[in-house]
Amino acid sequence: MRVSRVTAAATVAALLTLSLTACGQEARGGSRYKAEAGEGGTIGLAMPTKASERWIADGRNMAAQFRKAGYETDLQYGDDKVENQIAQIENMITKGRSLLVIAAIDGSALTEVLQRAHDAGIPVIAYDRLIMGTENVDYYASFDNERVGELEARYIVDKLKLGAPVKGAGEPYNIELFAGSPDDNNTKYFWNGAMKVLQPYFASGRLVVRSKQSRMNQATTLRWDGGTAQKRMDDLISKNYGDDRVDAVLSPYDGISIGIISALKSAGYGTAGQPLPVVTGQDAELASVKSIIRGEQTQTVFKDTRKLAEQAVRMGDAVLNGRKPEVNNVKDYNNGEKTVPSYLLNPVSIDRSNTRLLVDEGYFTAGQLK
Ligand code: GAL
Repeated sequence: MRVSRVTAAATVAALLTLSLTACGQEARGGSRYKAEAGEGGTIGLAMPTKASERWIADGRNMAAQFRKAGYETDLQYGDDKVENQIAQIENMITKGRSLLVIAAIDGSALTEVLQRAHDAGIPVIAYDRLIMGTENVDYYASFDNERVGELEARYIVDKLKLGAPVKGAGEPYNIELFAGSPDDNNTKYFWNGAMKVLQPYFASGRLVVRSKQSRMNQATTLRWDGGTAQKRMDDLISKNYGDDRVDAVLSPYDGISIGIISALKSAGYGTAGQPLPVVTGQDAELASVKSIIRGEQTQTVFKDTRKLAEQAVRMGDAVLNGRKPEVNNVKDYNNGEKTVPSYLLNPVSIDRSNTRLLVDEGYFTAGQLK
């Protein structure tokens, strides 16, 4: 028989309250979870990698905000290795962390370890990436992931003026497509959002994928690795663009965009006679924002990691205090076992014309963008 989380947690809380009282410490009232850990408790933050600036910022922002709300934090990075992340989460469970906030490396690899978290009565928030195939994920905080893909594709359509009326079939434009890591649930949302916008132009012949690699599983980039993307782009150019040029590249992440741009430059793009194609991105990482200002990468999607952290902290604090976290989507994020109540924030498209917004929002200083 399945012991409910509430029953298990209540039992653990009762035992801990007893032992805390026995130690002469005062347990704080109001929350069974807080009572477990005395003062606010320690939050386990499991982030995927330090190889990308955004996750460093996500971890830092969440740790600072949880501390401000009265909690201790245990922040760990998995170095993009699934087994590291599992070991880190196991360790957090053993140490009795009161809540886990996880940005999964492989969204489908955490079923067993989260069963252990459940058995220990520890609630779980999926951060930015949905955790798949388990009932033991309570909430999800992210951005509107499909909208991210739409913004990238819409940018390409506008930049190439594909929506403008043309005589006859019009001149076709060449595009190549990149997708994110196949084990990240976000990948298909980004891809589907983009394809919804691009599909009519493929159908009319205005946009052509010369490599014919137009299915998601032909375009994925394991672990979002820029080097992998660079190699694939080198290959796409040498095999398909001997006598023609690439006009646009759909890229779902700034690290991938940097790899793509390196490959393009090696093939002679980026000169007056052969300008770089439109290259999209995501995350507004500093290197890419600077590249946009220099006129290399064309666009990125800004997802304010401070706001996402704030949302996760709000959700966590509510859960730990027996309140219902605020959610704004209860239908789109099914992980195969349940539809996870989610809070989705709005992504914003950035190009050369509005990088100023990042300074106005305090995301970067004007000096950083020089
Ligand atoms: C995704 C995330 C993107 C990007 C990518 C690579 O899960 O939603 O914003 O950061 O990972 O890190």
